[in-house]
Amino acid sequence: MRRAIFVLCLFAPGCIEEVYPPDLAWCEDELSVDKLPEVPTYAETVGPLLQSRCTRCHREGGIGTFAIESYDDAVAHKDAIRRAVVERTMPPWMPAKCCTDYEQDFSLTQEQIDLIASWVDGGTPRGEPGISPAEEPGFGLGPVTLTLDMAEEYERNPPPGTNDDTRCFMLDWPEDETKYVTGFRFVPGNAAVVHHAVVLVAGPDLVPTYEYYAQQDEAYGWSCPGGLVSGYGYLGGWSPGWEGQKTPDGHGHRVDPGSKVVVSIHYSAPARAEQDLPDRSRIELVTVDEVDHEIQAISVFNALWPWGGMPIPAGEKDVKYNVMYDPTDVVGYGQPLTLLSVNLHMHERGKSGMIGILRKDGTEECLLQIDRYEHEWQGDYIFKEPKVLEPDDRLYLECHFDNSEDNQRVVFGEKEAPRDLNWAEDGEMCVGFVAATK
Ligand code: HEC
Repeated sequence: MRRAIFVLCLFAPGCIEEVYPPDLAWCEDELSVDKLPEVPTYAETVGPLLQSRCTRCHREGGIGTFAIESYDDAVAHKDAIRRAVVERTMPPWMPAKCCTDYEQDFSLTQEQIDLIASWVDGGTPRGEPGISPAEEPGFGLGPVTLTLDMAEEYERNPPPGTNDDTRCFMLDWPEDETKYVTGFRFVPGNAAVVHHAVVLVAGPDLVPTYEYYAQQDEAYGWSCPGGLVSGYGYLGGWSPGWEGQKTPDGHGHRVDPGSKVVVSIHYSAPARAEQDLPDRSRIELVTVDEVDHEIQAISVFNALWPWGGMPIPAGEKDVKYNVMYDPTDVVGYGQPLTLLSVNLHMHERGKSGMIGILRKDGTEECLLQIDRYEHEWQGDYIFKEPKVLEPDDRLYLECHFDNSEDNQRVVFGEKEAPRDLNWAEDGEMCVGFVAATK
């Protein structure tokens, strides 16, 4: 498929437009605080808010650097908490607010930010205890009907001098009739080493390719440092904080008998040496026999990039790549598409990015904008209101990379020196994943 686009792009008229599209406008989030007339108390409002929005990660043994479970915890870290919520670096919800609205948005509203800031500025009053925490925004998928386990344990085995081991595994699909996946949850076996995961369905025609990869290595799975590129069977992903998700009512991902599920897991070093144990992750699914709308997974990138066409020179602070993409070659000509969710994928030097629609009448629409991209925090952002892509509308993707000294990985306590990168093994990527239906 990729080769087909590549060749087409060399000879087809209009190719230049695909490679050098016009820029789409970015929107701007305002960071501000409105002081509340009365200082709120911990017991009444601030405590329940922090407990519902922060302790998922900031608890004893959680992935957040410290616990925010009690009044004393919150007071001990009050200045850092104030700064993190006002600057919107915490909770780690990446999309810019000004772009569009998503389901399961676990960021704080402006009112909630004002509440925390006013509490810190007002001297962190405790108030009367005894009020229960507020509810979390709705995660959860309903009853799981199918669980796919890794067949074996895998012990991370990064190349010498590095921390990162991206490993792919092929899991059997047990059903002998076509099913539709309507709920997805990745459950890390050892969350201390699983950094993030991407899960695809390989249809029967792709299975031999993956089987070939799997046979190249004696240990379980195979090394796949560039991750999984083909987004056509994208089922879901995981990074810390994502607890699983449902597709919109009546929509599902089709899986035919004879398919396999391919999981790419990025393993990194755990915080403590004693957590460096093998992993055996699993995938929990909700499947049904029929849906009204089949979900098509579209991946947006320039077909030339994976062929060495995305150089990111060492030391450069802002390297930009963008592409305009017409998905009708994937999903059929002349068909309007309903877009359900969006995800933007870069690696460590990813700095910011956006995905939008350039409509044939020249108007633009923002689908996802990430002003401060963090490799750790990726997600499938499900639109509150699905977007319609009419024939001749284009999807637009733009990625910015920072390959300067400031933005290098720290490996075993030492910052790496900048080096020339490209879309390659241990390199970078710039891909948008969009889930759509006809
Ligand atoms: C999904 C997990 C997750 C949630 C939810 C979360 N945090 Fe964090 N937080 C982390 C992790 C991991 C770190 C350390 C790494 C980092 O800084 O990215 C961190 C770091 C921090 C820091 C120190 C770094 C800084 O930016 O100053 C503060 C303060 C913080 N979090 C506050 C909060 C508050 C307040 C909430 C709730 C309103 C919250 N976090 C919700 C995972 C989370």
